[in-house]
Amino acid sequence: MKKPPKDCVILITGASSGFGKACADYLSKRDYRVYGTSRKADFETTEHSASPGFKMIPMDVCDQGSVNQCIEFILQQEKNIDVVINNAGFGIVGAIEDCSIEEFKQQFETNFFGVIRICQSVLPQMRKQGFGHLITIGSIAGLMSVPFQGAYSASKFALEGLIESLRMEIKQFGIQAVLVEPGDFNTGFTDNRITAEKVLKNPVYSENFKHALAVMESGERNGPSPEKLVLLIERIIKNPQPKLRYTVGMFMQTFAVFVKRLIPASLFESLIMKTFNIK
Ligand SMILES: NC(=O)c1ccc[n+]([C@@H]2O[C@H](COP(=O)([O-])OP(=O)(O)OC[C@H]3O[C@@H](n4cnc5c(N)ncnc54)[C@H](OP(=O)(O)O)[C@@H]3O)[C@@H](O)[C@H]2O)c1
Repeated sequence: MKKPPKDCVILITGASSGFGKACADYLSKRDYRVYGTSRKADFETTEHSASPGFKMIPMDVCDQGSVNQCIEFILQQEKNIDVVINNAGFGIVGAIEDCSIEEFKQQFETNFFGVIRICQSVLPQMRKQGFGHLITIGSIAGLMSVPFQGAYSASKFALEGLIESLRMEIKQFGIQAVLVEPGDFNTGFTDNRITAEKVLKNPVYSENFKHALAVMESGERNGPSPEKLVLLIERIIKNPQPKLRYTVGMFMQTFAVFVKRLIPASLFESLIMKTFNIK
């Protein structure tokens, strides 16, 4: 980052809860100029808010008009957008057979196309500036699939390919693209997870589904709070040459990513199935 971090203007998508809120709260207290987004915010309140901390702007990453409005709003207040944290996202759970095409589309609309909309909307400004950090929150589930999270895992695997490619394209403009891949953390993610509609009507997978969901939920609810991720994000912002990928989370989960590269795929698969109690 060419500019001193204190002047940094940061946009964080999905700042009403979990990682996004924790990052927005922390970074705004460190004197960064932070703009967060939520689908529940409104411009009336944003414009008249005199409260310290970060500004919350309405934005739905699934709606290009809403994304444009948000970027325009920030550029009316600021000269640059130095850092973008693509964080907005959610999870759909259910067997692949039970997830409708509409549900797959809904999952990708937010987690994948949402990131593309944001990147395409801020890149012209970042190219003009000649610098910027585009930080995308992927997931360890984008490096190793989780049973009954096929739609979610696929959306996060897709981000891996997207950002890997984007990074090489935009380096020439002084813009850095980075993936942060968290394991399980205790955020609003668990309560905001959507169960595919057909899951309740189709008994075929119910036993394994119940076991796997219990493991997922317990991992998340007993997971760490977002502090570690927040500190990592600040380190990335301050680093002029950040790496492409940063995994973050409980040791066994980040270690599993490493192990996947070393052991036969069949052995890794049986370890994952055992972990999620799949018969
Ligand atoms: N928690 C974990 O264990 C974990 C692990 C790996 C990766 N992640 C990833 O971390 C990111 C943040 O999740 P979290 O754990 O902090 O969950 P969270 O507490 O549920 O927060 C999700 C945020 O995303 C926003 N959001 C959802 N859909 C949106 C949309 N269409 N447009 C704009 N904003 C939207 C929500 O804002 P509004 O509802 O107010 O609009 C909310 O602020 C996600 O990408 C998730 O996949 C989480």
